Amino acid sequence: MNIDMVISKTNDQRVKNLAIKFSKIFDETEVFVARSPGRTNLIGEHTDYNGCPVFPMAVDRDILAVCSPRDDKKVVIYDYNDAYGYKEFFIQKEIPSSATGDWGNYPKAAVQGLINYYAQTGKIKFDNLNGFNAVITSNIPAAGGMSSSSAFVVLSALLLLGANNINEDKKLLASLMAKSETYVGTQGGGMDQAACLMGLNNHALKIDFNPLRVREVIIPSGYCIVVADTLKKAPKTESALQNYNRRSIECKIATALIKKAFEKEYERIFPITALGDITCERLGLSEAEIDKVLDSALHKNFYYLDEIASILKLSPDAVIQKYCKMKDGQYLDMPPEGFKLYQRFYHVMTEWKRVEKSVLALESGNVKKFGQLMNDSHFSCRDNHEVSCKELDVLTEIARNAGALGSRMTGAGFGGCTVSLIKIDKVMTFIEKVKAKYYDSYLVNNAPELLKNASGDPIFMVYPADGAGIIKGFELE
Ligand code: GLA
Repeated sequence: MNIDMVISKTNDQRVKNLAIKFSKIFDETEVFVARSPGRTNLIGEHTDYNGCPVFPMAVDRDILAVCSPRDDKKVVIYDYNDAYGYKEFFIQKEIPSSATGDWGNYPKAAVQGLINYYAQTGKIKFDNLNGFNAVITSNIPAAGGMSSSSAFVVLSALLLLGANNINEDKKLLASLMAKSETYVGTQGGGMDQAACLMGLNNHALKIDFNPLRVREVIIPSGYCIVVADTLKKAPKTESALQNYNRRSIECKIATALIKKAFEKEYERIFPITALGDITCERLGLSEAEIDKVLDSALHKNFYYLDEIASILKLSPDAVIQKYCKMKDGQYLDMPPEGFKLYQRFYHVMTEWKRVEKSVLALESGNVKKFGQLMNDSHFSCRDNHEVSCKELDVLTEIARNAGALGSRMTGAGFGGCTVSLIKIDKVMTFIEKVKAKYYDSYLVNNAPELLKNASGDPIFMVYPADGAGIIKGFELE
């Protein structure tokens, strides 16, 4: 599509601005436009990396790009906001990563992931992939639990594919990008990439893993979803990364101990690699038989390395090697107080049930029940998985008092955003009340430094939106 056409015909001001900027930086005139939405998770937190379901929706906040193919192997990406500058790298077999926290790692993650996939399948040689020029802009709050990073990874994949005229199935791309994102150092699950790619206007998505399955659930009319940012940043490249990875490691160790408990009880091997594998069908056991083992598989005290090692019949060093290694080759700092395995396990298993109940509640129009489940989810994130923080607790409490049917943290936690369910005719008063109580009062009196993190409105309605893709034909009336 010709860039002048994009500039003159679009009625989307963000696309127009992006295209104007693109034309000032690059000479290419044939471009395409792609968008990749953020997501908000309605319920099912810290379940995806355990292979258990989640219930998010893609939202009407996105990262947009104007892009043109290059005829060499260079990838050049400018941010619309000059403060972030630009990044460039070359397509090669092993793309060296930039320093932790550098935004250039997100497009690198996507490109490396596709190169690896094409190498494994023998489908395309990386030598045959060309690079691209792009200018991007995002209105997804950064480091706020709305998946701005995965949206960027997915967008980068679409740009590489678009620039090389390749089509990939969205489900395949979602699984591929979930794996690819470990390049930036997170040991996450697949929720964000799946929500971002499979989003559907007006619908939330119940997502199951292994294999990836999506059930689209309509949000009952008369109700809406409001996201509010605590303004406490929790970038997944800094301390929140250690905290996040620690949860995933604790869940893996808990799973290993539970597998041992099943094997001890039944004297046979069980196919358990994640908590999500603990189902009647997979284990060939009844619910009562499973519950009997689970009831005594873990104790509620802290676990130390020696105890874990002795149950798993490994040396403490082997436990560290097997479970505690991170992507950058570093090892997780051993928590001096030990691991809370029972609490993490309990959160994941109860959250899994809450997801199933939430889907049924929304499908039968029982919005009140869904709200209660959202609240319960928040309390479990706070008390069992310990991924909340003071600001998230205060803001969700304020939201409940201001009329939300349910309110909870969304995303990785440790800061970032909350998500609340509100009756649509109450939404304006709700927003005013939350603004007065949290931003103008709680933060002013308790953490005024956080107010500096506000860029734009920190509380807003979100609408369930379509998934990521290349925008075709939007510019022609
Ligand atoms: C982050 C990860 C997701 C998921 C959530 C917690 O957003 O990227 O994969 O684990 O945290 O539910």
